[in-house]
Amino acid sequence: MDKAFQNGFLWGGAVTAQQTEGAWNEDGKGPGITDLQTAGSLTTPRIYTREVNPNYYYPSHKGIDFYNRYKEDIALFAEMGFTCYRTSIAWTRIFPNGDDAEPNKKGLDFYRAVFEEFKKYGIEPLVTLYHFDMPVNLAKKYNGWQSREVADLFARFCEVVFKEFKGLVKYWLTFNEINVMTMPFGELLLGKLPESEESSFMLGDPNIKDDPQERYQALHHMLVASAKAVKLAHEIDPNNEVCAMITAVASYPLTPDPDDIIVATQSMWMGNYLCGDVMIRGAYPRFAEGLFAKLGVSIKKEPGDDKLLMEGKADFLSISYYASGCMSANKGDDAAVGNFLLSAKNPHLKTSEWGWTIDPEGLRYILGELYGRYEVPLMIVENGLGAIDEVEADGSIHDPYRIDYLRRHIRSVRKAVEDGVDLKGYLTWGPIDIISASTGEMKKRYGFIYVDLDNEGNGTFKRSKKDSFEWYKKVIKTNGADLE
Ligand code: BG6
Repeated sequence: MDKAFQNGFLWGGAVTAQQTEGAWNEDGKGPGITDLQTAGSLTTPRIYTREVNPNYYYPSHKGIDFYNRYKEDIALFAEMGFTCYRTSIAWTRIFPNGDDAEPNKKGLDFYRAVFEEFKKYGIEPLVTLYHFDMPVNLAKKYNGWQSREVADLFARFCEVVFKEFKGLVKYWLTFNEINVMTMPFGELLLGKLPESEESSFMLGDPNIKDDPQERYQALHHMLVASAKAVKLAHEIDPNNEVCAMITAVASYPLTPDPDDIIVATQSMWMGNYLCGDVMIRGAYPRFAEGLFAKLGVSIKKEPGDDKLLMEGKADFLSISYYASGCMSANKGDDAAVGNFLLSAKNPHLKTSEWGWTIDPEGLRYILGELYGRYEVPLMIVENGLGAIDEVEADGSIHDPYRIDYLRRHIRSVRKAVEDGVDLKGYLTWGPIDIISASTGEMKKRYGFIYVDLDNEGNGTFKRSKKDSFEWYKKVIKTNGADLE
């Protein structure tokens, strides 16, 4: 037996609205930009279209039908003993166009029913307010985060949901992985429509057009929007706890060459600390000046922005963690080794079927780095293995690789806690199979619960338990002591 985590440690899983709900245009919901992403694969990039093109399959339109099956799914999460569940509220279910005069009552009713169902089982919802999904109307009208107005419209959306769900939701997360804005990623993450009829969305794609000025100005508007949301959340209900979130950039130098060490250090500064500092310390770090100067970027701030950022500091920091990377001063063979990491391959580590480096120790390393800098509670709100699962003739699904991955990561998390990190909880990514964000596939599965659905949207949507279901249930029951 291992040592248990502290009492009250939060266990559960995390997803988004657009990767699960489906019902993309039902009950008054408007289109979000993720409804314009087609299905792809590891080798075929997802396409991002300006409008829905009937020749393509758009996986978010059906999701895994959580919209109609949420009671069954939540009962399964409760059976595993979840105490926390992270999902997002689709902005477009509440304000179909983003700037409507009144919120959509049916959208509010849906989330109320979902949150009440979680509460019935004692599961705390942790709600993401923006997960890469801008209302299409705002993408068209304002060019998404390029415009300051969008930060105000976002704050209005937040105010409505904070008031509506007061007492039902106390954990909020403003922006998913906001630090991906420090990496060139194309239009989708800027919240704008593709400039050409169709554009691709794949890490490392040389065709991605990047304008650092536009990207960092958009990031500034997001940081302002986040601070506004944090302030409102605290004013509306002092019990609210709001977290910042970054995708943890765990960068190692590829070799002990000091030049590699500098590159790795700078990747951590820019990747983690630029956004982390604004959201947790309330101000841009001093090194931002040098970084922006090097890129020729000049951030346009409005009077009062610095004060607002200071007043809108988050209560804790949450991270996603999938992989570490190896940085080298001699660029050349960099490839995608994780959700947002381009780096050289680590010769000591294996990779997943999607080429993501598997590095449990990297999680301990990055938790230590982040806690050392901020000394605020941390929470892991995404971690897991995307893998291909086979259904046996008798319907059983054996997924020892997933158990092994999670076991090694949870062990490493415990070591980080023993190192002194104050950790609130651990949520796996996709506790039920969902649509992959990077590739749009169903076959990249993370779940303890299998969903009968293929990459083209065929299937019965039937849910069944994998071997990992009972394993995670035992982990939670013993508060992390029994990982065998
Ligand atoms: C994170 C995103 O970056 O990675 C999720 O927040 C995403 O939305 C997750 O699903 C895993 O990535 P993928 O591409 O395997 O779905």
